[in-house]
Amino acid sequence: MTDRYAVFGNPIGHSKSPRIHKAFAEQTAQTLRYDAIEAPKADFAGAWQAFVDAGGRGANVTVPFKQDAYSLAQVLSPRAQRAGAVNTLMLGRDGKLYGDTTDGVGLVRDLQAHAAPLAGVRVLLLGAGGASRGVIEPLLEAGIASLTIANRTVAKAEELALLFADRGEVAGCGFDAAEGPFDLVINATSASLAGDLPPLPDKTFTADGLAYDMMYGAEPTVFLRWAAAHGARTVDGLGMLIEQAAESFWLWRQVRPDTAPLRESLRRELSQHS
Ligand code: ATR
Repeated sequence: MTDRYAVFGNPIGHSKSPRIHKAFAEQTAQTLRYDAIEAPKADFAGAWQAFVDAGGRGANVTVPFKQDAYSLAQVLSPRAQRAGAVNTLMLGRDGKLYGDTTDGVGLVRDLQAHAAPLAGVRVLLLGAGGASRGVIEPLLEAGIASLTIANRTVAKAEELALLFADRGEVAGCGFDAAEGPFDLVINATSASLAGDLPPLPDKTFTADGLAYDMMYGAEPTVFLRWAAAHGARTVDGLGMLIEQAAESFWLWRQVRPDTAPLRESLRRELSQHS
């Protein structure tokens, strides 16, 4: 039976993951099948079991199932434990279900691909939901000098900062209290979806600051447009999507695909759809 992989989400129609993993499989000459599966919101576990019965070996998990995947996994990686979420499931040779998260590594690799230094930099992270929580540990491990978490609901930023306080200089606050300037500002809120801009102070960026939005699209997000107008270099989240996928692929197949060709082709496709 061909090894099967899939991305589970609801909705899932827009997912680029099948396209990405098929390209990785071709490039690395791995024989596998990768589908997009829309699981019922109330029965992720049932959908996963049906998939395993049909030859499923591993999966990516996206909104709204990252918590379900976290609960279902029998063995959690330390980084998944800290992130409180699982985006990658894999069936081990021992029959156990392993849960990991590759989002944070994906972000750090994408920043590296954009030659954005992390060691010693001051970072502002916007948002205090699952997307933020998943990237904190890898950023701290990359040697950043400090992390300020700013959120619309201030208490959530403070709680999240407390969770990582033993790992470095981490503080939580509201958007208007984010005391810059920062070398790197990462938008992990879902505000871009609504076309909203977190209300940040004008002096948010250092002279050569970088703005990163985890969202991406044919056009720059409102946050990236604002950042560009304030002198920052801008990067969207397309590369993070590709890098987190590459890390999942490596976990499943022990082969690391080259992400550069796919970065170019997906970017080209995105701009053609504008
Ligand atoms: P995710 O897993 O994508 O992080 P989430 O847990 O629902 O999703 O978190 C969404 C984040 O985006 C939160 O930080 C949220 O702020 P609140 O905690 O105050 O709700 C933030 N967010 C969503 N819409 C926003 C908006 N229009 N302006 C600013 N922040 C917004």
